[in-house]
Amino acid sequence: MITLHQEGHVKSLHKAYIYAMYVHPEYRNKGVGRMLLATAIKRANLLGLKQINLSVVNSNLIAVELYKSCGFVQFGLETDAFMIGEKFYDLSYMTLDLKGAILPSVDPHKSR
Ligand SMILES: CC(C)(COP(=O)(O)OP(=O)(O)OC[C@H]1O[C@@H](n2cnc3c(N)ncnc32)[C@H](O)[C@@H]1OP(=O)(O)O)[C@@H](O)C(=O)NCCC(=O)NCCS
Repeated sequence: MITLHQEGHVKSLHKAYIYAMYVHPEYRNKGVGRMLLATAIKRANLLGLKQINLSVVNSNLIAVELYKSCGFVQFGLETDAFMIGEKFYDLSYMTLDLKGAILPSVDPHKSR
C-alpha cells in the first residue's frame, strides 16, 4: 500500500505527501515497492502536481535508497525525531520536484 495525499491549503495545492508505504514481508524485494512508488509519482504528475514530499527514518536504508533512485533528494534532517525505548532515530525529509522530472520506469514482472 501507498498513500498519496494532496495538500489542502490553496497555496499548497501543487504539493502532495507520500506516507504509509508498506509491502507485506512475503512480497518484498520483488519490485512491488518500486512499482507502488512509480504509480504514485505518475498519479501526482497526472494530477498536475509539482512536488512530492515524504519523511523516512534515516536508518531505513532500503526505503531511502528506493526514494533516491526515483529522484527524491533530502532537504532536511530531524535528529532524534523518534525515541523507541532508549534508542533515538533521525528522520530525513525528502522531496521530488515534478517540474520537468523524468518519471521512473519499472518492470512490474521483475523478480529476484
Ligand atoms: C520499503 C519497502 C516498501 C520496499 O518494498 P519492496 O517491495 O521490498 O521494494 P522493491 O522490491 O521494489 O525494492 C526496492 C529497492 O530496494 C532494494 N531492496 C529491497 N529489499 C532489499 C533488501 N532486503 N536488502 C537490500 N536491498 C533491498 C531492492 O534492491 C530495490 O532496488 P532495485 O530495484 O534497484 O534492485 C518495504 O521494504 C517495506 O514495506 N518496508 C517496511 C515499511 C517501510 O519501511 N516503509 C517505508 C516507510 S518511509
